[in-house]
Amino acid sequence: MKQRVLEYLACPSCGASIDLRAVHEEDGNEIMSGELGCAGCQRTFAIRGGIPRFADLGKIEQEKQATAESFGWSWQQFSHDDEKYDEQFLAWIAPLRPDFFAGKVVLEGGCGKGRHTLRIARWGARDIVAVDLSEAVEVAFASTRGMENAHVIQADIYHLPLKRVFDYAFSIGVLHHLPNPRAGFESVVSKVKPGGHVSAWVYGAEHNGWIVRFVNPVREHLTSRISPRLLFHLSKFPTAVLYAATKLVYGPLNRSTYGAAIARHSFYNDYLSFISPFNWREQHSIVFDHLVAPTTFYISGEDFEEWWRDIKATDVVIGWHNKNSWRGFGKLSD
Ligand SMILES: C[S@@+](CC[C@H](N)C(=O)[O-])C[C@H]1O[C@@H](n2cnc3c(N)ncnc32)[C@H](O)[C@@H]1O
Ligand SMILES: [Zn+2]
Repeated sequence: MKQRVLEYLACPSCGASIDLRAVHEEDGNEIMSGELGCAGCQRTFAIRGGIPRFADLGKIEQEKQATAESFGWSWQQFSHDDEKYDEQFLAWIAPLRPDFFAGKVVLEGGCGKGRHTLRIARWGARDIVAVDLSEAVEVAFASTRGMENAHVIQADIYHLPLKRVFDYAFSIGVLHHLPNPRAGFESVVSKVKPGGHVSAWVYGAEHNGWIVRFVNPVREHLTSRISPRLLFHLSKFPTAVLYAATKLVYGPLNRSTYGAAIARHSFYNDYLSFISPFNWREQHSIVFDHLVAPTTFYISGEDFEEWWRDIKATDVVIGWHNKNSWRGFGKLSD
């Protein structure tokens, strides 16, 4: 933990500021172990492994705990970086481009292994505070600790230990895994200062009826309940089918002039052609990610639009990404 993250922290119980109470171990500019304390209610929070710990996974509600355990394991396993992440991330936060981030104070709700945290830090944000409930924070911390402007904290998105000082907040692929996605969105938005901006990306209900009908029952009753280690191996079978379809059919068809006309009418083409350049490890990570989550909602465009209306955002840009998911970007009123 770098000392300067203190300027963004607030007690999740009473909202008062957070002080550094003790430093037990340092490594360069990182406080690796120590204690934080609330100036108001006096609650204390540990700094462990360089990360401020505001959530105790042992004490959190069962549903959230199960989700955090699944993803914690997942990101520790798939901790690699991939050059495709730049393009993929920019597609999720369109219409933003890297120059948007220069000098901004950014909040990331649910950072996983920190692949987007790293990119925003490199794109010149003044500071990015990345939050995740799971042990994935260990991976995010390790991959971003070289960046002076990157800060990783372990906390529940519903109880963010943060002040309302952010220029921009975003959440990618997280809200649909929460027990109440809209409340998670509102919690992230509540930390953005008036006039600031927000982005979110969620799974869509439209075009995903086949997942809801055929994949969800398997995920709910089987794959999210078995050990992640076993699922890691079992998920290689559906990955092999996906990999063959994207590399042998969807990729080549979409690259050829005549084939593209056929591909346009093929099952799930937009998404399958989008991921066709991804290598085996990345496709395995995507399949595993879908099957491991205990909670997943598919959100309709109508509901998603309502989220943005309810926060009274202006200049809202909503896009149907790959015809299977929704991305949104908007400005909070001054
Ligand atoms: C599919 S991953 C996406 C991670 C990252 N945004 C990315 O795209 O690489 C979902 C993440 O949400 C986190 N998460 C789930 N429930 C959470 C909660 N209640 N509070 C904070 N993070 C949560 C999980 O631990 C997981 O890392
Ligand atoms: Zn307090």
